[in-house]
Amino acid sequence: MNRYPVWNIEAARAVIRAEGDTPDAVLPMLHALQAHFGYIHRDATALVAEAVNLSRAEIHGTISFYHDFRSTPPAARVIRLCRAEACQAVGCEALVTEAARLGVPVDGPAADDVAIESVYCLGNCALGPSALVDGALVGRLDAARLAVLVGGGAVAEVQMP
Ligand code: FES
Repeated sequence: MNRYPVWNIEAARAVIRAEGDTPDAVLPMLHALQAHFGYIHRDATALVAEAVNLSRAEIHGTISFYHDFRSTPPAARVIRLCRAEACQAVGCEALVTEAARLGVPVDGPAADDVAIESVYCLGNCALGPSALVDGALVGRLDAARLAVLVGGGAVAEVQMP
């Protein structure tokens, strides 16, 4: 089950309003919308544009520019696997191969239940391979722990103190 509420225009207006009404509030508004709904619904562009008195094209341009903004709902579980240098040195690319074997290719099309996305350093380098799983930092990831996570289960968090 997805942990985010379904898109709702009145809730979106309240999220936007809480960030103010000036152009410098565009990014905070977009982040707040994504934090609330898990993504930025296509109708949010017009709401944000209206709130800050900018064009829809300008808001759309901002959304498109930042890779981290999602335009579709996320999977129920999102595993953000670190593929930066320190995690590469301890086997993260083997986990990429394992993910494909499990039927969830990294950066592949999102399924409803689980998706794995690449990220580049989570600040947990000494305990790699690392991943952020539904917001929780997991270190010392291996094939067995990845399989549990892909299956919707939980593993012990391992992170730097
Ligand atoms: S390189 Fe993976 S957590 Fe830093």
